[in-house]
Amino acid sequence: MNHFLDIHKTDATELRNIIDQAAAMKAARAGQPKGTPDAEQPLKGRMVALIFEKPSTRTRISFDVGVRQMGGETMVLSGKDMQLGHGETIADTARVMSRYVDLIMIRTFDESVLTEMSEYADVPVINGLTDRTHPCQIMADILTYEEHRGPIRGKKVVWTGDGNNVCASFLHAAGQFGFDLTFTGPAQLDPEDEFVGLARKAGSTITIERDPVKAVEGADLVVADTWVSMHDSQSSKERRHNMLRPYQVNDALMAHAKPDALFMHCLPAHREEEVTSAVMDGPQSVIFDEAENRLHAQKAVMRWCLGV
Ligand code: CP
Ligand code: NVA
Repeated sequence: MNHFLDIHKTDATELRNIIDQAAAMKAARAGQPKGTPDAEQPLKGRMVALIFEKPSTRTRISFDVGVRQMGGETMVLSGKDMQLGHGETIADTARVMSRYVDLIMIRTFDESVLTEMSEYADVPVINGLTDRTHPCQIMADILTYEEHRGPIRGKKVVWTGDGNNVCASFLHAAGQFGFDLTFTGPAQLDPEDEFVGLARKAGSTITIERDPVKAVEGADLVVADTWVSMHDSQSSKERRHNMLRPYQVNDALMAHAKPDALFMHCLPAHREEEVTSAVMDGPQSVIFDEAENRLHAQKAVMRWCLGV
């Protein structure tokens, strides 16, 4: 049994195998109606709990559909409706849930909830986003990049804006998949030093560049995310917008990247804020492929977790 807690905590060879399996499973069901069961049913008889302490569209639906395509069953739980939200410890919740279900996916606030859940659960636990990281998203993003442009190894990824949870998982992936990453954003919103250090130690070139135009020069992939994440206070919104406005991804900025550069955004996006509609709906954007690939990547992650 394997937990999928973070990209830097998963062996690089196993990450590669997960991506390859996701691509193969996607190809095997191409063109079929969404509800068609996969030819192989590795989750037959398995029960998967999906816990959400924050809102979700993609994570919730893609995990639910993915489990069903593989023959398993799901229950989608809201953290606030569980005793978890009324003082029952994470450890007790994990031990109880392990008696009922075969796999737990949790989206939460503080990373310690995920860690504690994984320490006490007898079944695999998957990180469906914390304040600090979002590894499932980046597995889908690697799959998406490689579908369009081939191996991501050696490529230049530019992260624009807030050095947030999604940026953190991109940094982890840089080290594990062997690409370089330039962060461009205000100093107050730099990614965590620890994560920058990890990627550098793994051999990636990580650059901090305040000038967005300079940052995107030679980029193979430009990435944006919301300027205000779910864990950020609404009262910080105006201050963050003022700091981040120069980092909007628009046609003028994309013109400085490589002509065949892709644009990604994990979604949900705030159109005309961190990115313009012209870029989101333009020829370089692969945002909806990313969203679809959450499904395929997570199916392979779940199989790896369960060893099936
Ligand atoms: N990208 C992503 O995780 O989306 P949701 O918040 O809709 O799950
Ligand atoms: N950074 C965003 C990602 C949402 C999928 C957030 O945490 O709200």
